[in-house]
Amino acid sequence: MEKAALFPQAGGFLHGGDYNPEQWLDRPDILDEDIRMMKKAHVNTATLGVFSWSVYEPEEGSFHFDWLEEMMDRLYENGIYTVLATPSGARPAWLDAAYPEAMRVGKDGRRAHHGVRHNHCMTSPAYREKVRIIDRKLAERFGRHPGLLLWHVSNELGGECYCPLCVQKFQEYLAEKFHHNIEELNQAWWTTFWSHRYQDFTQIEPPFSNGEGSIMGLNLEWRRFTTWNMTDFMKEEIRVLKEVTPDLPVTANFMQLYPGLDYRKMAESLDVISWDSYPRLGNDYETLQETMAETSFHHAVMRSMKPEKPFMLMESTPGLVNWHPFNKVKRPGIHRLASLQAAACGSDTVQYFQWRKGRGSFEQYHGAIVDHLGRDDTRIFREVEQIGADLEKMARVTGTTVHAQTALLFDWDNRWAIQDVKALSEQTKQYEATCMDIYKAFLRMGVEMDVVPSTADLTPYRVVIAPMLYLLQKETARNLTSYVKQGGQLLATYFTGYVDENTLCYLGGFPGDGLSELFGVISEEIDTLYPSDRNAVRFADGTRWEVRDYAETLRVQDAEVLASYEEDFYAGTAAVTRKICGDGAAYYVAARVSAQEMSSLFRTMLAQAGIKTKDLPEGVEYHVRSGEQGSYSFYLNCGTQRAVIDSVSGTDLLRSKAVDGALTLEPGNVAIIETAQQV
Ligand code: GLA
Ligand code: ZN
Repeated sequence: MEKAALFPQAGGFLHGGDYNPEQWLDRPDILDEDIRMMKKAHVNTATLGVFSWSVYEPEEGSFHFDWLEEMMDRLYENGIYTVLATPSGARPAWLDAAYPEAMRVGKDGRRAHHGVRHNHCMTSPAYREKVRIIDRKLAERFGRHPGLLLWHVSNELGGECYCPLCVQKFQEYLAEKFHHNIEELNQAWWTTFWSHRYQDFTQIEPPFSNGEGSIMGLNLEWRRFTTWNMTDFMKEEIRVLKEVTPDLPVTANFMQLYPGLDYRKMAESLDVISWDSYPRLGNDYETLQETMAETSFHHAVMRSMKPEKPFMLMESTPGLVNWHPFNKVKRPGIHRLASLQAAACGSDTVQYFQWRKGRGSFEQYHGAIVDHLGRDDTRIFREVEQIGADLEKMARVTGTTVHAQTALLFDWDNRWAIQDVKALSEQTKQYEATCMDIYKAFLRMGVEMDVVPSTADLTPYRVVIAPMLYLLQKETARNLTSYVKQGGQLLATYFTGYVDENTLCYLGGFPGDGLSELFGVISEEIDTLYPSDRNAVRFADGTRWEVRDYAETLRVQDAEVLASYEEDFYAGTAAVTRKICGDGAAYYVAARVSAQEMSSLFRTMLAQAGIKTKDLPEGVEYHVRSGEQGSYSFYLNCGTQRAVIDSVSGTDLLRSKAVDGALTLEPGNVAIIETAQQV
């Protein structure tokens, strides 16, 4: 099937961002300047209405949309499309005064006062009703506007609510989930422990800060419920929009690895994935290359939710933010590097928060394309202008996608369970960092990884890495087993397969649910090391990996031992094993070692799978997008030295010239090489 660009009307990448003209309605001169400057900056999209409710509906039932219509018309006449948000991310004062149930109740049981944003009760029927009304009005009035590209539902949905309405809904959700059988819940949550048995679903409270926080199954189910309820709220908005404009795509902007919601569940209701990226570029604790690699991981998480189409970088800052621990400005060229990285990873858009700085209030010092200075010759304006010109040169890339042959398994439920588990060390659990470390090792080898759930269809992948897969979903073990039997190369680590989907431990040996047969090992103990403790594992060829933080002792059933521990009472016992199974192989690494060191094993797996690694100069990040129109290799020099990449041939899109041989890239620079699509 032909892969289509997300927004063919735009003829290439979307470039633009959040625009708040409602803050400047008394300054037509500024609004005029905005249009002029947007054109100069090659901006072709504006995200409107994110926080416009109190201007749309200053009093209940009285609607004022003329200003928006005028704005969308003028933008469109000037070649600028609109992404239109629904305004549910922040409420007008009258609404909370009239319907206090719309205000959220916190974990401490206290209801919030009116104010701030992103803090509505997702259950409140009154709030849902008000949102439906305004969404319908917006859809009816603007849904057929030729400039409208996309609905942007609410803004950065997040948080949780402990109000009585939400508590009751949680109880109903539980009753349904556990088949109205409280004994089933008691079993699944092991509530006889500390005498926590329930007799009725109405007795169950969410984990209030001064309430029940000791039942792991309850804590996990509350997070699942919050995702379900937030998704339900979002779906209600989408339903209204789709009723009026069935063909307009819908997105909701995600926040990186936000821990509070399982984005994959929400993604099912969205047409396009979009997210807001604010990396701490230029920090003092890691190299630029590392920060960039982490962002690349975040892009991969987003991309992998709908790998068949491009995603959107909905927000990024062209300069600084105002909420990092240190609000450092991006050094010259860094914003371009990060923007082109998004494109390299599969985004069809480069969008910003925000077009123009607001004069007052919370975000008056947050970066923007247009500063309080108001000029189009600032450093940042010029950089944005340059990116706009670059994106035009690479328009052909839109619609192509990244095709990864390797995958990293990363589950939200597993994150939650690991975060909550009373085991290991709070200081070193580091599930996310462990996953990222592995992703970075593959990136350094020039091998693209998708980041997918443990229940995903793994047939597109030839190598799969499953770090710390502590909680197994119902289908996980079967999925992994059939993957290996069909020829997949799989690697799992310590802390795999301890609990089922309710956090009940598997009996008879970890990893449970049949995985100890797949790997041919049973983990008998897990040792948590103090930060200064060290051990090591040694392979027959003398290769030695340093062990930190965690080490499991194994009973080897029918696996081959590749490496053994060097120290401590488990010296000489198995630490790395492999079991050949059908056409594939299942590796088990029982201790925490750096992914950099594990790369030797990753290389073996990749070679076995027929996947080529790439010899990249230090600091260079590499991605490929491809589609029917061709293949686009992105080289991003995130290092501090000039880099020379050998044997590159094709057309350098940004420099409009042919390359055949060595490609030289200065620090911070990017090359996009087009070649005919290889079959
Ligand atoms: C988020 C929000 C924006 C803005 C930016 C600031 O991404 O969606 O409204 O507050 O953060 O970085
Ligand atoms: Zn609530």
